[in-house]
Amino acid sequence: MRVLSANLFSLLLLCALASVFYVWSALEDRLERHKRRFSVPGAGSFHQALPVDLSAKTFRALLAVPAAQRLHFGDRLKTRLNLTNQPVSAGSRDYNMNGSNKRSAPREDPVKLSPLEDGIFWNEWLEDTLPAGFTEEYAVAWQKKARTYRVVKLEPGCGRISNQLATFADGTKACVRYGINADQVQGETLTYYLARLLGITNLPPLVLSQLDSDSEQWESVRTRIDGLQWNDRAVVSLTQWISNLTGVITPAPLRQESSGLHPALEELWNKTAAELLELMQWTDLIVLDYLTANFDRLVSNLFSLQWDSRVMERDTNNLLKTPRGDLVFIDNEAGLVHGFRVLNMWEKYHNTVLSSVCVFRKRTTQRVAELHTRRDSRQRLLELYRDSEPLSQELGFLSDEHAGVLQDRIDRLYTHIVHCKGKYGQL
Ligand SMILES: Nc1ncnc2c1ncn2[C@@H]1O[C@H](COP(=O)(O)OP(=O)(O)O)[C@@H](O)[C@H]1O
Ligand SMILES: [Mg+2]
Repeated sequence: MRVLSANLFSLLLLCALASVFYVWSALEDRLERHKRRFSVPGAGSFHQALPVDLSAKTFRALLAVPAAQRLHFGDRLKTRLNLTNQPVSAGSRDYNMNGSNKRSAPREDPVKLSPLEDGIFWNEWLEDTLPAGFTEEYAVAWQKKARTYRVVKLEPGCGRISNQLATFADGTKACVRYGINADQVQGETLTYYLARLLGITNLPPLVLSQLDSDSEQWESVRTRIDGLQWNDRAVVSLTQWISNLTGVITPAPLRQESSGLHPALEELWNKTAAELLELMQWTDLIVLDYLTANFDRLVSNLFSLQWDSRVMERDTNNLLKTPRGDLVFIDNEAGLVHGFRVLNMWEKYHNTVLSSVCVFRKRTTQRVAELHTRRDSRQRLLELYRDSEPLSQELGFLSDEHAGVLQDRIDRLYTHIVHCKGKYGQL
């Protein structure tokens, strides 16, 4: 009996020791991961499989990882441990176009860490390094101002004559777009709100305005408006004007001669942080242009290749970047309305571009998955547009047919992402 109790006691002691050891190793392991993630970018050693093993999770669970709002160490830890189903809200960080960014990386350093995680997603450290772009808060503040400030000057400077560079009373500027018809202003505006729904923050904030003769906002430039022969009942869009923008050439993995931008692409492991950050923004651009069927960017270059073999060596249409490397998606008027109308002509090019990409941002993918599952893209877009834009009634919304096309494209994009996950998820 005594021997039995002694054995039992030893067994219990052993179990207790094993538990202590297990808990300690787990803690140490977690601590080590955080150390590694803090040495990013450039300073860490090469870790192909960073940093948490999510391989056993399903695709749906991966999409549920809240990838945004990881400003502080504590938040990061919470995010790691708490894989909830909560939707991610966009724009928790302020837009910081010219000033220093507290998380800005030494972008020219060669990257030693894995650019990807969970097979097909950009790694979390890249997400954390990317500046916040035009966040929702930033956009809402600009919109408020742009709705009330007087326009004191209208001049060329935003492309074709039907676009004018407007100067507000405080000296800041906006590009005014007077659409030849309502389709264009609708396309521009609804693409902007779809991007907001997806958490894509590369589009400068936008408001609508009506040029009526009794509008105080346009009073000082009335003669110029008459000279341009703009109808004073027209609804125009105003987009924030950004200084010091330059052109952007399509990166090599997205050109036709490449095998595409996918997780097996070895050159991804030789890129600098700056190159990876730009590629990451390109993947959002391709998602947005596919959904809106916007042919007036990469797709039109692909089309032009038929007679102009060097088109890819020149700047991409309607895409600019800041000196820091943040991409700015301008001129989205071909999206949604016009793009859907001429889908027959462009669809094969849209498909080619989409199928060349199998790497995505987790947050964007999560939102696509939500819109796919709930099948409520029409309602969500309409609500956001109505709540944010007082002139939404005047400009109007997507027809039922086009709202159906949008949902269909969301579903196809989702299917493509699932396909990528199946193909590359085990890498
Ligand atoms: N928001 C903006 N901020 C700064 N420059 C802009 C902006 N929008 C347009 N531009 C300038 O005007 C040019 C043409 O703009 P875009 O909107 O593409 O006009 P278009 O309708 O003629 O194609 C751009 O290449 C850029 O130089
Ligand atoms: Mg343009």
